[in-house]
Amino acid sequence: MTYDPETSQTPESSPTSSSPNDHGGARMSTWDMMAANDSRPVPAFLLESAQAEMGNEPLDTERYTSAEFFRAECRKMWPNVWQFVARQEELPEPGDYVLYENAGRSFLVTRQPDGSLRAFHNVCLHRGRKLRTETGWAEYFQCPYHGFTWNTDGSIKHIPCRWDFPHLADEDLNLPEAQVGEWAGYVFLKEAAGGPTLEEYLAPLPEQFDRWSHERAYTTSWVAKVIPANWKACAEAFMEAYHVSTTHPQIMGFTGDVNSKYNLYSDHVNIAITPFGVLSPTLGVSGDEQEIINNFLKYNGRVVTPGTSIDVPEGRTARATMGDFNRRRFSELFGQDLDHASDAEVQDALTYNVFPNFSPWGGFQPTVVYRWRPWPDERHTLMEVRLLGRLKPGEEAPVPSMKLLQPDEKFGDYLGQLGVVLEQDMDNLPHVQTGMEASPTGKLNLAHYQESRIRHFHQTLDKYLAH
Ligand code: FES
Ligand SMILES: [Fe+2]
Repeated sequence: MTYDPETSQTPESSPTSSSPNDHGGARMSTWDMMAANDSRPVPAFLLESAQAEMGNEPLDTERYTSAEFFRAECRKMWPNVWQFVARQEELPEPGDYVLYENAGRSFLVTRQPDGSLRAFHNVCLHRGRKLRTETGWAEYFQCPYHGFTWNTDGSIKHIPCRWDFPHLADEDLNLPEAQVGEWAGYVFLKEAAGGPTLEEYLAPLPEQFDRWSHERAYTTSWVAKVIPANWKACAEAFMEAYHVSTTHPQIMGFTGDVNSKYNLYSDHVNIAITPFGVLSPTLGVSGDEQEIINNFLKYNGRVVTPGTSIDVPEGRTARATMGDFNRRRFSELFGQDLDHASDAEVQDALTYNVFPNFSPWGGFQPTVVYRWRPWPDERHTLMEVRLLGRLKPGEEAPVPSMKLLQPDEKFGDYLGQLGVVLEQDMDNLPHVQTGMEASPTGKLNLAHYQESRIRHFHQTLDKYLAH
């Protein structure tokens, strides 16, 4: 029996009891076995096993439904974390600024004449109007209400009827500032002073991403939608592959969902590695290698142009064949010889999470980047999806802008098959939120291994809320 994605439904009695990732004692995922057979060496940080014993206690639904819990996050967590605010190509020139709003705060991240970046609270120190309501370019920031004006370095430039404010000294009127950090073209801010540096916060992610050249990345697509669900519920829909067989049955013909590996590297950084180019073990059927690659091409438009066909040579696997194809294709796309790149790094989903809401994919592929922000409360999220390409030597990145979808528009209208998959995720989320609000037990039960990143995320959140 082989698998047909057009007719197959999720099997009710699938052989998941064979527990592809349960080998007793030391945890070794079945992804590791695939990695051991890779045609190229796979980086050691992907092969290592990084888990923590975190128990099996249920999570309280109140974490997602309570306005009080949300206020605690705004007060204790958001000001103290490094937040991904922009890609460098959004503000290339002096005077360019990005309006970044989250968790009740509003910032203008502004390119200075010397090329550095500074982030100012976007609030007039006269009577509190926001100075700007959109991203743009400014020679100076003049408040549209009474005309208080600031230089782009945050110093006060002009106060109409200055004589009427003898009680205010210029030096006390600098716009309050947040910390700014940059890594590989990603711009971050942290509202509170002190705390870990960005480098300390992100470790070991920059070291691991070094080989994937994100400093040459630029935004090629950027699509967002407001989702009626808590921001954590939205983020968690992308932290495990356990939901694939039920939510995305069309990709099981090339996705090793329950083969996925989960590594917890630090409080702030973890990864899910989901193999492609193999049949889902959940199907409980054997697969023809050519069919696997046909399914891959049909239902994963992210990495190939629609209409592409690839023949699997006699005796080769779909995974190895896709590896060969992608090494060639991404070498051209990246303007870089990728002969050393492992099959895993040119086709698998290497989905990193940086606490609390930033998720860049690793690997030598067009990069997916997710970000989730409460918009503006505990029941709504701005879900953003970007695709990043790579600049070849001498190329300049275009300045990207975000496409905000209306409620009746779909990710699939803009992001092809990836968008179709995302829309399936989005279809769950409003019902996750209302379901949690209606829960008679007030408890959520997590899988021990496959949902370990969700538990890890909440344990880190609790560390912030404890202070
Ligand atoms: S509120 Fe900004 S100048 Fe009055
Ligand atoms: Fe999904």
